[in-house]
Amino acid sequence: MLDIFKNFGVEKMKVLITDEISASALEIMKSSGLELDVKVGLKEDELISLAPNYDAFVIRSGVKITAKILESGANGKLKIIGRAGVGVDNVDKDSAKALGIVVENTPFGNTNAAAEQTLALMMLTARPNYLACKSMKEGKWDRKSFEGTELKAKTLGLIGFGNVGKKVAKVAQSLEMNVLVYDPFLADEKFKELNVTKAELNEIYTKSDYITVHVPLTDKTKNMISDEQFDKMKNGVRILNVARGGVINENALLTALNNGKVASAGLDVYSEEPPLNKELIMHNNVICTPHLGASTIEAQENVGLEVAEQMVLALNKKEVKNCVNGLSKLKE
Ligand SMILES: NC(=O)c1ccc[n+]([C@@H]2O[C@H](COP(=O)([O-])OP(=O)(O)OC[C@H]3O[C@@H](n4cnc5c(N)ncnc54)[C@H](O)[C@@H]3O)[C@@H](O)[C@H]2O)c1
Repeated sequence: MLDIFKNFGVEKMKVLITDEISASALEIMKSSGLELDVKVGLKEDELISLAPNYDAFVIRSGVKITAKILESGANGKLKIIGRAGVGVDNVDKDSAKALGIVVENTPFGNTNAAAEQTLALMMLTARPNYLACKSMKEGKWDRKSFEGTELKAKTLGLIGFGNVGKKVAKVAQSLEMNVLVYDPFLADEKFKELNVTKAELNEIYTKSDYITVHVPLTDKTKNMISDEQFDKMKNGVRILNVARGGVINENALLTALNNGKVASAGLDVYSEEPPLNKELIMHNNVICTPHLGASTIEAQENVGLEVAEQMVLALNKKEVKNCVNGLSKLKE
């Protein structure tokens, strides 16, 4: 394939890879005749000057694609951004749309990993095994300080019933939890299909023993759980966020942990990453991981392959798949 392009003097499409991506994903794009440059850790000004030279970017969450970068790219060849993963809050999608630049994501590849991370954190908020492990490694044998609670028969309030939310609900049901779901964008059949109870937000807050968010970060979902919502919750509620930092207001969460309203919280994502709210991270009842929801071997391979295949489809065949900014065609 490479030789064909060389021999006929066809200019190859150029793709800038801005984050780590699997070797097999790179191979798919290369063997389809795309020219790749892998440059990880670029700053905004570097991306602005590089952008016009590329037809496409392949990104993960390590870069922020701003309007300035997109404008610079649009003055050159840039026509598509492919995100290996789900969350596209690091791309200015509206500016991209206005400039005719397609933004695609890979909605399925890391669903399972994010759901399993949520369940792992939920189990740790129920039983302080992380503290027990730490204590044993310090040479202690303490069987009194780490009593936990069970998930069975507890109510899980789930906000956002997309790919990750559905998987979390399914496993929670197998643990005999009662699952309440709030997602205003889904038809009633979807709730029935998975045999979960459709609920209003107020019910989620007042009835749940565990609350987990699985929504994108938007103007509507930013700070959707703050002081007012914590006030409505049961005393001793447990809170999980493996979706996006900022959906739960971190200062309000810290207050609720300090006054005992929230018994424990499992956090994978933060409004600033790395997180600035050190008091929250250091809180004894907070189990925190550094945005590892999609960090499994399987998920990285999946999203890499998905984005590579979509990139080949878009650049070689002009087919747009999983576009998240409302464009159906690639510009010439
Ligand atoms: N921690 C990680 O590494 C990691 C990995 C994968 C996904 N995520 C994040 O998890 C979240 C869910 O991912 P997904 O793949 O399930 O996405 P999805 O698009 O499949 O589902 C999102 C759901 O949220 C619903 N929703 C949107 N706005 C809402 C609102 N205001 N109230 C209630 N529901 C609302 C949508 O209707 C949709 O059903 C996203 O924020 C994604 O970025 C994080």
